[in-house]
Amino acid sequence: MKSYNRDSYKLGWRTCHPFSLYSQQFLQGVTLILTTDMFRKTIDYDKVSTVYDQVREGNPEMVLQLLEEVILSDSSLVLDVGCGTGNNTVILASIIPARIAGLDISYGMLQKAGEKGIQVPLVQAPADNIPFASDSFDFVYMTEVLHHLPDITMTFQEIHRVLKKTGLLCIVTQSHNQIDKRMTSRFFPGTAVVDKERYPDIDVIEAQLSKAGFSVINPKEYIYRPVRLGPEYLVTIEKRGFSMLHKISKEDYERGLEDLRAAFQKDEELLYFAEYSFVWATK
Ligand SMILES: C[S@@+](CC[C@H](N)C(=O)[O-])C[C@H]1O[C@@H](n2cnc3c(N)ncnc32)[C@H](O)[C@@H]1O
Repeated sequence: MKSYNRDSYKLGWRTCHPFSLYSQQFLQGVTLILTTDMFRKTIDYDKVSTVYDQVREGNPEMVLQLLEEVILSDSSLVLDVGCGTGNNTVILASIIPARIAGLDISYGMLQKAGEKGIQVPLVQAPADNIPFASDSFDFVYMTEVLHHLPDITMTFQEIHRVLKKTGLLCIVTQSHNQIDKRMTSRFFPGTAVVDKERYPDIDVIEAQLSKAGFSVINPKEYIYRPVRLGPEYLVTIEKRGFSMLHKISKEDYERGLEDLRAAFQKDEELLYFAEYSFVWATK
């Protein structure tokens, strides 16, 4: 994989923080449209933003897998929908010459992304009301966002609108089968139940994409290198660093935490094979 030095590219973008007052045309050739009702919320990610980076990192392997399927040049425009604190945006921006923008509904998450000093515009907006002109982007992706969206049909229609004719969309998510295999599902079985309600399964995603006008490309499943979970995993759980831990009862959470602590005390080897599904679609 060729690596690019971000600074050596004259992207012509200025860094935009979520608090900036956006003027029209801040991206070369891409019109930013401000509309009302842009800051509706689902889960309180402003609150989560205070601990998110303590418990989550970007995933370079995941970003490289995205890049296996899409060819981007220095004139390509990319949108990271639900970019959060910009963990994957930063990685992508350090590898490719394309111009990338991050969009998220949460001011707090974008504030953290802005603090990383990344040279990408960061825009606060909901995924189903994207403030960019139609036919703007060559590639749109979202990692671990779909299950937060109130209306995936509207979001897919909106992404379809902002993609160029030959544009590609990739949704990185987990299938129901992959949710069942998570380590959290072992210790907190309630989280698997909750998440199978929150995460649309792959066939549902494909059906909704088709309905929004996309041609769906076969989804790919990736299994990452096994990781032996150490004390940092316990810390993440103690901080409820995964959103589904906020959705189970206090009793279920405490029972699972006790079992997890016991497993660490017994020095049990907790090997976790993270698995993700990449659902690709073209306009
Ligand atoms: C689990 S985080 C993933 C962040 C990032 N993509 C990553 O992989 O680290 C989910 C993100 O989706 C954002 N989000 C939730 N609902 C949204 C919506 N309706 N529109 C845009 N972003 C949304 C949240 O604010 C949060 O930053």
